[in-house]
Amino acid sequence: MAEPILVVDRLEKRFGGNRAVDGATFSVARGSITGLIGPNGAGKTTCFNCIAGALRPDGGRVTFEGQDITGLPPHRVFERGVVRTFQIPQELGGMTVLENVMLVARDHPGEHFLEVCLRPWRARAREEAVRVQALEILRQVALDHLALQPARNLSGGQRKLLELARALMGEPKLLLLDEPSAGVNPTLAQRLVDDIRAIQRERDVTILVIGHDMDVVARLCDTLVVMTSGRVLVEGPPDEVLNNTEVQEAYLGSQYR
Ligand SMILES: Nc1ncnc2c1ncn2[C@@H]1O[C@H](COP(=O)(O)OP(=O)(O)OP(=O)(O)O)[C@@H](O)[C@H]1O
Ligand SMILES: [Mg+2]
Repeated sequence: MAEPILVVDRLEKRFGGNRAVDGATFSVARGSITGLIGPNGAGKTTCFNCIAGALRPDGGRVTFEGQDITGLPPHRVFERGVVRTFQIPQELGGMTVLENVMLVARDHPGEHFLEVCLRPWRARAREEAVRVQALEILRQVALDHLALQPARNLSGGQRKLLELARALMGEPKLLLLDEPSAGVNPTLAQRLVDDIRAIQRERDVTILVIGHDMDVVARLCDTLVVMTSGRVLVEGPPDEVLNNTEVQEAYLGSQYR
């Protein structure tokens, strides 16, 4: 098997006496859509925070593209191509939807103050390129008709889509999605599965997605990693994992009996 793009090895994160992540070990194959699932409080978001640098783990190791990124600050992790979304959207309400997306553009040469003063036409050309890229991404997540609206006017579901758009603008190699379909209406959630699959194909990105909705994750993911109590219970193809009785008992409960 090819080298995984991400390896999480015996990761630990405690909050006081609460072992939120307690030795979680899993890997993500390059080019895959891998689902991270498990009951409320299992430690999924905390894992994301440790991978993306928002939290410093208490133990274990995170390896991205063969390099140790454990404990790096968020902007360093972002620079390497790991981009995450938040369970609770983080948009800037006063700015337009388009501006929210444009803001995430990666730095390119020629954006320094001096360069802008000396060669203003270049800065204008770059801004235009960023605008075109942002509009293209908004089209992909079906928010282009709202591009000029203030972000605060968006519904909960639309905010999740804006989160996705902002993440794509970060040109990820590895995209970490925290519950992308939470609060999105069922019709849109179905579409989101197709959209995320298309994004994965077209942009050559690997996706690690936290999901609650079993129908969504089963249709979306190539592999599922099930967490309970800060650890990984099983890892495998969706049909196998969802038929595993241990998983059903630990997690799915009455929903699948
Ligand atoms: N910043 C924090 N401070 C203290 N405790 C936290 C913090 N973040 C998470 N926890 C605790 O860590 C545990 C794991 O939480 P986490 O948010 O990672 O779970 P989750 O699997 O993402 O759950 P959910 O499905 O509800 O989003 C929980 O017991 C939670 O209360
Ligand atoms: Mg969570």
